[in-house]
Amino acid sequence: MRTAASALDYRELARRRLPPFLFEYIDGGSYSETTLRRNVADLPTIALRQRILTDVSAIDLSTRLFGHTQALPVGLAPIGLAGMNARRGEVQAARAAEAAGIPFCLSTVSACPLDEVAAGTTKPFWFQLYMIRDRGFMRTLLGHAKRLGCSALIFTVDMPVPGSRYRDYHSGLAGAPGLGGDLRRFWQGLTHPRWAWDVGIRGRPHQLGNVAPVLGRQNGLEDFFAWMRNNFDPSVTWKDLDFIRDHWDGPLIIKGILDVDDARAAADLGADGIVVSNHGGRQLDGVPSTARALPPIAEAVRDRLTVLADGGVRSGLDVVRMLALGAQGVLLGRAWVYALAGGGEAGVAHVLRLVEAEMRVAMALTGRTRIAAIDRSMLVE
Ligand code: GLV
Repeated sequence: MRTAASALDYRELARRRLPPFLFEYIDGGSYSETTLRRNVADLPTIALRQRILTDVSAIDLSTRLFGHTQALPVGLAPIGLAGMNARRGEVQAARAAEAAGIPFCLSTVSACPLDEVAAGTTKPFWFQLYMIRDRGFMRTLLGHAKRLGCSALIFTVDMPVPGSRYRDYHSGLAGAPGLGGDLRRFWQGLTHPRWAWDVGIRGRPHQLGNVAPVLGRQNGLEDFFAWMRNNFDPSVTWKDLDFIRDHWDGPLIIKGILDVDDARAAADLGADGIVVSNHGGRQLDGVPSTARALPPIAEAVRDRLTVLADGGVRSGLDVVRMLALGAQGVLLGRAWVYALAGGGEAGVAHVLRLVEAEMRVAMALTGRTRIAAIDRSMLVE
């Protein structure tokens, strides 16, 4: 393939390198994938006002989020199983994020455990939490994240039950446990030798690092999905935030908000931030794109907490669009995982450089030299 020039080029590389059961998991959404398509289609329709002759020779992309200055208003979103896309993948991605001066968020259901990411990096990273029925295990996880110095907690609330992703059944990731699934995935590994060598052989152990203790000896992919179905707690309500607050005193960010009333409830309960998100179109299919959901939410709560957003962001131009729609920070999801699969740590570092360069161009052509100057007045409405 020609030299990768965008996150979408890395998607193509990832498609070629990964066994289908991993590529389809990252790339796919739930049901008919209507929301996934909306995320990707709506953002580019957000038109920005071009402004000229305003001296854009010095552009500052830095911003302060949750008490830390970061080089870009961007973070790497928590992605389950991300570390299976390259050898010890979450460590590679966390290192690229650290070098770029932005936060990396480790998923509860990552391949690499918290300790391994902490050992492979020098700066604090963020941790993401799913509410698990076993509150004792939650306490242990939170205590661990705190001891390791994680600097923010993302609490994901839009997955009390998992949405059905048809592609996972077609690819052999999900479905009935047993030899059939194992053999299909083994065959896919054999036919993708670069991945098989890098991850399948050299990337061992293949565990889900943080939840391995509660999965016990059963640690196959099907065991993991069954565990998720049985152990993610659908009885969670706003009251359970007290439990998290009792065990986590750092910044708390609630991820998976699409509704103004829910955003207000998060602010009323003292959350430090929210992520306006439809889980990358992987949960309730048919809900609006983030680009459509974000503006009224940002307007309602952005003076009370920090508003982050994700969904369909594939470039620095998209980041600037999300900021113009009201976000104060933007999470990259698939974009970084494609890059990890396509190029490892160097791939993620490259995509982050591209995002930075694309942001600079977008800001220069809209006449903005600071992140704080990006606002709704940039939109052609
Ligand atoms: C997990 O968060 C998923 O979307 O698969």
